[in-house]
Amino acid sequence: MTRPGTMVSAWCCALAVGMAGAAPCAAQTTADLQAAQWASSCVTCHGAARPVRGSTIPMLAGRPAAQIEKQMREFAAGARPGLLMRQIARGYDERVVRGIARWYAQLVPDKP
Ligand code: HEC
Repeated sequence: MTRPGTMVSAWCCALAVGMAGAAPCAAQTTADLQAAQWASSCVTCHGAARPVRGSTIPMLAGRPAAQIEKQMREFAAGARPGLLMRQIARGYDERVVRGIARWYAQLVPDKP
């Protein structure tokens, strides 16, 4: 790779488009890109900067990272009620949850 900067921005835009155009091209480092990729599995239900059309599942964009991490820990431990998240949260280790939580925290929700 002779021009890593170019490669990174190309991925970034591909990811943003993949997420229904919701995320501005904010990801810059490979850690950011990794987190965005992890978070893409949450975006299906929780949306990114915009909610999923017709869904009542709460948005996570702009929420404090610590709050998202805490709720994920509680789901995984069975200490927080949830039909889906108790199973989903068990599949993610702390490092991945931290990355996803930070990604959502830096995301500015679109104005309705
Ligand atoms: C299949 C749909 C689905 C996916 C995928 C999903 N969630 Fe959820 N999430 C839900 C639902 C539904 C709830 C409400 C609690 C429940 O029923 O489990 C929820 C609740 C939450 C909450 C609590 C929000 C609140 O205000 O109480 C957090 C935090 C959360 N999810 C994080 C995540 C993260 C992080 C991911 C990706 C790793 C993710 N979710 C993936 C459906 C989903």
